Order: sequence, then C-alpha cells, then structure tokens
Amino acid sequence: MPQKVTLIATAAMGLEAIVGKEVKALGYEDIQVENGRVIFTADVSAIPRANLWLRTADRVKLLVGKFKATTFDELFENTKALPWEQFISEDGEFPVVGKSVKSKLYSVPDCQSIVKKAIVERLKQKYGIASWLQESGAFYRVEIAIHKDEALLTLDTSGSGLHKRGYRVGQGEAPLKETMAAALVQITNWQPDEPFVDPFCGSGTIAIEAALIGQNIAPGFNREFASEGWGFIPQKVWDDAFQEAEESANYDQPLKITGSDIDPDLIQIAKKNALEAGLGDLITWKQMQVSDFKPKEDNGYIVSNPPYGERMNEREEVEEMYRDLGTIMRDYPSWSVYILTSHEGFEKFYGQKATKKRKLFNGFIKTDYYQYFGKKIRSNPTHKKGFDA
Ligand SMILES: C[S@@+](CC[C@H](N)C(=O)[O-])C[C@H]1O[C@@H](n2cnc3c(N)ncnc32)[C@H](O)[C@@H]1O
Repeated sequence: MPQKVTLIATAAMGLEAIVGKEVKALGYEDIQVENGRVIFTADVSAIPRANLWLRTADRVKLLVGKFKATTFDELFENTKALPWEQFISEDGEFPVVGKSVKSKLYSVPDCQSIVKKAIVERLKQKYGIASWLQESGAFYRVEIAIHKDEALLTLDTSGSGLHKRGYRVGQGEAPLKETMAAALVQITNWQPDEPFVDPFCGSGTIAIEAALIGQNIAPGFNREFASEGWGFIPQKVWDDAFQEAEESANYDQPLKITGSDIDPDLIQIAKKNALEAGLGDLITWKQMQVSDFKPKEDNGYIVSNPPYGERMNEREEVEEMYRDLGTIMRDYPSWSVYILTSHEGFEKFYGQKATKKRKLFNGFIKTDYYQYFGKKIRSNPTHKKGFDA
C-alpha cells in the first residue's frame, strides 16, 4: 500500500476555490487550487473520505504520475516506469481513456493504446506473467491527459460523477447539477436553523442539498465508488470512512427548508427525491407561483435557479417573475436572496443592484450568481461563517 497518495478533485469552472475549502475542511493541508482542479496529498484514507464528503467536486482522481512527453517513445517509457502494480491488482481491468490539448502528441487513440501497452508490460513484468493479463477483476479507469506536452496519468477513484448522489429518481426539464446546487448553498452564510426557501425548486435539488448540508449528511453516503473494489485500500479504511459519516450526521438538527414551484408534477418529483435521499418529510414542499410567496419569519435565505428566459417567447414572463420577486423581497430586508440566472437584465427587473455577483457556469450556460445580503434583525455571534470562497 502506498504511504501517501496525490489526489485530484476535479471541479467545474468557477467552483475550484469552494472545492479547495471543502478539501481543507476535511483536514488536508497540502492543497493546490488550479483551473478545473484541486490537488492534494494525503494518506490512502483520503480516497474514501474525499469521495464521501466532497459536495462540489466532480470526481476524485488518483495521480499515478506526470511527465513531459513529446514522442510516443517518451510516453511509453515514462508510463512503464510508473509503479502501476502499487494500485492495479494482477487481475485488474483497466481501460484507458484520454484527451490531448495543445500538444505534439495529439492523436488520442494512439496515446491511449501506447499507455495501455506500457501498463500491460509493467504489470506482466512485476506480476511475473508470461501470457496475457486476465482483466477479470476490479475496475480501474486510467486516464491519460496531455496538456501542452505534459502528460498526466490518473486513476478514477469515483466511478460515476460525484453529482450522482443516488437520490434523483425524477427530474424536470432543466435540473441543476447536485454539485452546483451544493455550491450555491455553500456560497451563502445560511445556518441550518435559519429559514431557507427555493421558490423555483423544480425537482428540489437546491433544497435537498441544503438539507444534506444542514444535517451534515455526507453526500456520497447512498452510493458506491469505483475504488471500493481496489485491493490496496484495506476494507477497514472504507468501513472507518462510512462510520465517520454515520457518526457525523446530525439527524436531530431541525431545519426550516421549503421548496415551492408552480408545477404540481415537479413538487411530486421533488418529494420523491427527498424521500430517496433519506430526508423523509424534513423539507416542506408546496405548489405555488412565486408571486404568492410571502416570508413568515425574519433572517431567511432564498437560494434559487429560476427560469432564464433563454427562449424569446418566455422572456417577458420570466422578467415579470423577477419583478414579482423583487417587489416582494423589498418588504423583507432581513432576508438574503441568491439567484442564479443567465439573464443579464436580472438586476433591472428585480429592481435592485446585487451586493455581489459571481460568474458561474451552469453546464455550458454562462450565468451570474446575484447575491443580495440581508440586514439581519438579530445577529447571533455564535454562528459560523460559511464558505466565502
Ligand atoms: C430552471 S428550473 C429549476 C430547476 C431546479 N433547480 C432543479 O434542480 O430541478 C425553474 C423552475 O421554475 C418553475 N417556474 C416557472 N415559473 C414559475 C413561477 N411563476 N412560479 C414558481 N415557479 C415557476 C418551473 O416549473 C421550473 O421548475
């Protein structure tokens, strides 16, 4: 078993700093935040822990090695020189995927097959196998990523992307990725005992992610990870990580989270998703149009992903909704409002300039996260700060 591993938590553009803070919150220190990824070195137990706990990362990859490669020979020899046998078992199945950007070695299929051959040779030598490798055992997805002639070889420890929490049994037309929803919540200073509303909740992603955060439930608790079958990670390390997650969950934390949407079918779907997430009836779901929303308490939070009005025929309707929300919220200055939209005129229709704006990509759509900080009526000095990343 390797003493230390270097892990790469991949992140959507704009979310890297939040992923970095999450990695730090897990207790890891040697952290580099780069474009699209966060790199950190830790002991092997970080593989289960990072997969279980990172709410905003896309995947966790294990770095096997990196080197400069401008010829196929260099790629082959440097790949073969890496200690693959420390990770891949004798019967391991290891398909190779790849990408290449701005590099001399641009033919991805060729790079993939050279990497495959080099690993096969290395493993045959190390395991003393004369014939072919069986590849009937655990699954290891190798990735060769070449960027400006630097080759990065990784193993995907996650399997399906970490946004797949295992609770989405239904969805609407434009569901938000779970990782992005968790980021939207973590950017706020919301505390679990404060009111939280998503008035355009669709299938409920933001409200569900808020509830998971509010009760400190590990987002990966209900799913499996590719690296659960890897021999070099002792079963005890996985058991300990799952036990830590179980013990850290605060199921007694009361929550005041509401999700509402104009579409009754989506409310039914949101309810099912929340049930699947193990949240029972912790979240209040309500069929309602935004213009009927009326806060009942002070110091609440709206975190929402309303329609963007990208189709011309929806534009006016959407602008009217923004106007309605702005008019309502003007009477509730203790509420903080966080809205993700690609509509560049949002502030104009809402009727107020945001305290802060942050550029984020919702998939391929360029959006802004408009943040209106409420003036709290009673401030509670014991509250922790959120991730102001
Ligand atoms: C972009 S989707 C939200 C998706 C959601 N974040 C999810 O993960 O499923 C916008 C939602 O706004 C709802 N909506 C449209 N007009 C509305 C209105 N006037 N009042 C409340 N909800 C409305 C739609 O039904 C849709 O579910």
